[in-house]
Amino acid sequence: MVRICVTGGAGFIGSNFVRRLIETTESDVVVLDLLTYAGNLENLEGLEETGRMTFVKGSVCDADVVARAVEGCGAIVNFAAETHVDRSISDPSVFLETNVEGPQVLMKAAKDRGVRFVQVSTDEVYGSLTDTGLFTESSPLDPSSPYAASKASADLLLSAFVRTFGLDAVVTRCGNNYGPRQFPEKLIPLFVTNALEDKPLPLYGDGLNVRDWIHVDDHCDAIMAVMEAGETGQVYNISASQELTNKEIAERLLDCLGKPWDLVHHVEDRPGHDRRYALDASKLCARTGWRPKVDFDRGLAQTVAWYRDNVAWWQRIKSGEYRRFYDKLYGDRLKTPKG
Ligand code: DAU
Repeated sequence: MVRICVTGGAGFIGSNFVRRLIETTESDVVVLDLLTYAGNLENLEGLEETGRMTFVKGSVCDADVVARAVEGCGAIVNFAAETHVDRSISDPSVFLETNVEGPQVLMKAAKDRGVRFVQVSTDEVYGSLTDTGLFTESSPLDPSSPYAASKASADLLLSAFVRTFGLDAVVTRCGNNYGPRQFPEKLIPLFVTNALEDKPLPLYGDGLNVRDWIHVDDHCDAIMAVMEAGETGQVYNISASQELTNKEIAERLLDCLGKPWDLVHHVEDRPGHDRRYALDASKLCARTGWRPKVDFDRGLAQTVAWYRDNVAWWQRIKSGEYRRFYDKLYGDRLKTPKG
């Protein structure tokens, strides 16, 4: 494949995907990104110099910009999204625009040019599990948050584009990612950076919600495998089968950093907070031979080291727009810690 359009390529997972495409394949890459609060050109540092990446600033909802970006591309991989559940609770509207209207514009562009479309979705579309069992690709869609509902909507739209227009498209659904350059609103980078500054770690509810963790490199390799070998119209779960409670994550991070447990503050729970996510990725493994490679403890230690070594990267973010969001979301909750 000669050239690939990666939307949202300046974000955490998207930029990692672009880096891996350039390092491990012959493909050229066009990055389309609006550079909203979570997009960061620093994440693509050094890549333009290879002569294999071009950057287009713009929205996936803008058909003209999309047409320019996908010109000459053999596939479109869509990472462009509003991704933070807490933000979708404060204001759902932008989630519908970016996460539903955006994919619609991209799917139309892919259909008109006869190129493959890869939609990077999420395990949150399945809703919440109890203590046992795993989500398979045929589990019902049962989203809990406006974010998850917007992602589920795009997945349904994709299925309609495949049936109605014969679009060549695949969907990937992954669990919680971790790794370098993740925006510090998410659990792991928020807790690591707060702990580095000896600030409280706001643990929602009883801290026993379970997430299915995967290193961003493993996630990106799986998307590449699906882009190359996924069957059109199919959904593929991506998982490293690494389930941990949020409390266990906090314990491991504090251990890595040599910081005390009393930094942890139990705060009011997130509304509609899903209890547990866990995925069965056997369909992906059988189809592509993909297997996760990064051991969780090693990956976590490397991630913690990255945040320790790149203080300027996250301090710039935490002192900008994010500051207002953080104060609004956590201000009152942290004044009256629950335990
Ligand atoms: O499962 C995949 C999803 O993972 C992605 O689709 C989303 O884009 C991504 O944001 C992530 O969603 P979560 O809501 O699971 O991630 P988050 O890092 O916000 O929270 C992880 C868990 O930690 C969740 O149970 C809520 C809890 N949490 C989170 C924050 C930010 C806390 O206890 N305290 C916090 O301050």
